[in-house]
Amino acid sequence: MRIAVIGLGYVGLVTAACTAAAGHDVVGVDIDEERLARLRLGRVPFHEPGLSELVAEHHATGRLRFVADAAEAVADADLVFVAVNTHDGNGGWHTGTIVRCLVGLVPALPDDTVLVVRSTLPPDFVARLGPLVRGIRLGAGRTVTPVAINPEFTRESTAIRDFLSPDRVVIGVVDDPKGVAESRLTELYRPFGAPIITMPGADAVMTKLGANLFLATKISFANELARLCERFGADVSTVVEGIGGDPRIGHAFLRAGLGFGGSCLPNQVSMTVRTAAEHGVQTPLLAAVHAINGDQRARFVDRLRLLAGGELEGRRVALLGLTFKPETDDLRDAPSLDIAERLLALGARVVAHDPMERARERAAALVPGLEVTDSAFQALRGADVAGLVTEWAEYRDLDWSQAHTLMAAPLIVDGRNALDAEELGALGFLYVDFGRRGLRDLDAARGAPPGTARPGVDAEHVA
Ligand code: UGA
Repeated sequence: MRIAVIGLGYVGLVTAACTAAAGHDVVGVDIDEERLARLRLGRVPFHEPGLSELVAEHHATGRLRFVADAAEAVADADLVFVAVNTHDGNGGWHTGTIVRCLVGLVPALPDDTVLVVRSTLPPDFVARLGPLVRGIRLGAGRTVTPVAINPEFTRESTAIRDFLSPDRVVIGVVDDPKGVAESRLTELYRPFGAPIITMPGADAVMTKLGANLFLATKISFANELARLCERFGADVSTVVEGIGGDPRIGHAFLRAGLGFGGSCLPNQVSMTVRTAAEHGVQTPLLAAVHAINGDQRARFVDRLRLLAGGELEGRRVALLGLTFKPETDDLRDAPSLDIAERLLALGARVVAHDPMERARERAAALVPGLEVTDSAFQALRGADVAGLVTEWAEYRDLDWSQAHTLMAAPLIVDGRNALDAEELGALGFLYVDFGRRGLRDLDAARGAPPGTARPGVDAEHVA
């Protein structure tokens, strides 16, 4: 098939590279000429494992091309994916770009080319989409274009695998009187062997949102469970293992810690709460998911402060990890930025490390006062307390005995429940996490019996 992909951000570039890898002729379009020039050299503008290799390989064979002119790209396309941004970058939806894109693109589509929206859409936009495209076509004196929505469920860091081996494919029918959109998308995805679920466009938009809202809910549930575990002397990882054995519950996305970040989960929870309220729908569960998540970041800062003796003014805090999760260089809604700002506001000197150079540079630019280093040991050297923010393998495998000798005090808060508490304890660290040992080691060091209330800490965060 001949495929055009409009918008070469995260979603679009993965779609372009993976459909080329599946044997199709693909043209990627972006308005950013510099991005196009770099892509032609196989340079991907963000870190996604395997993506630059895929881009370079298929660009070299000519199966994947990059152009600036959308009309040229769609001239003989069977399928056109639109993957432009629909977030305003500030917790709100933004449909101006996609509307402008459609106004420019739709008149140029050949008859029978299928238009597929891959961008995540606000639920109140879908009813406008069909009439908008039909109106543009008829206004330009052209025939009706088949329109579908095909939401993506790919995760950063495993996007290629998620695309090429999906759990399921969702086709949302928007305007498809002859069934061309459905049959062409089915032809594209059938070789991947996953169930293909065809549904009305509004359902597809809700399926996309619903999946992310549920994942976010699972994480906030795990974090609330961790609070209970701490209070009653249980270990949340064992509890999750125990409850996750029930296939109705499962183990995934129940890792407690300092909460979720990234461009999808936080935004989509807060945007859904906002859009629902605008339409008179109450969403107390999602509001709680959002609140719990924000609170976890504050609790992480509290734990650093408690370990440091209740005062962070003038203390050196080492932060390990800046990206919102490992194997990406993405800082969008990364908890690290928020945490660093809170620590700086408390008077701490904050020195952070991340394996991704681009993330270090951007974080330093985004958070005035944040210092970054290019080695974890440099960040830990002389630190009064350390906090693990992102569970990069490098930190799990760190020589912690060496870290112990470098730090001014061997105090660590594990914000991802990722480190080996026993090993760190044996090395002489005072170790605090979320719901496994929680503040137990700190209590023991202070001589307080387990479960003793810590005023201002158990009930509410103190930062
Ligand atoms: C998320 C969804 O997982 C994808 O299915 C979806 O396609 C994508 O959004 C999207 O809408 O485009 P992503 O944002 O890449 O993918 O990241 P996740 O792997 O979902 O992680 C989100 C955050 O949750 C991270 O900060 C991670 O550290 C945190 N997390 C994850 C936890 O705190 N606990 C867990 O158990 C799992």
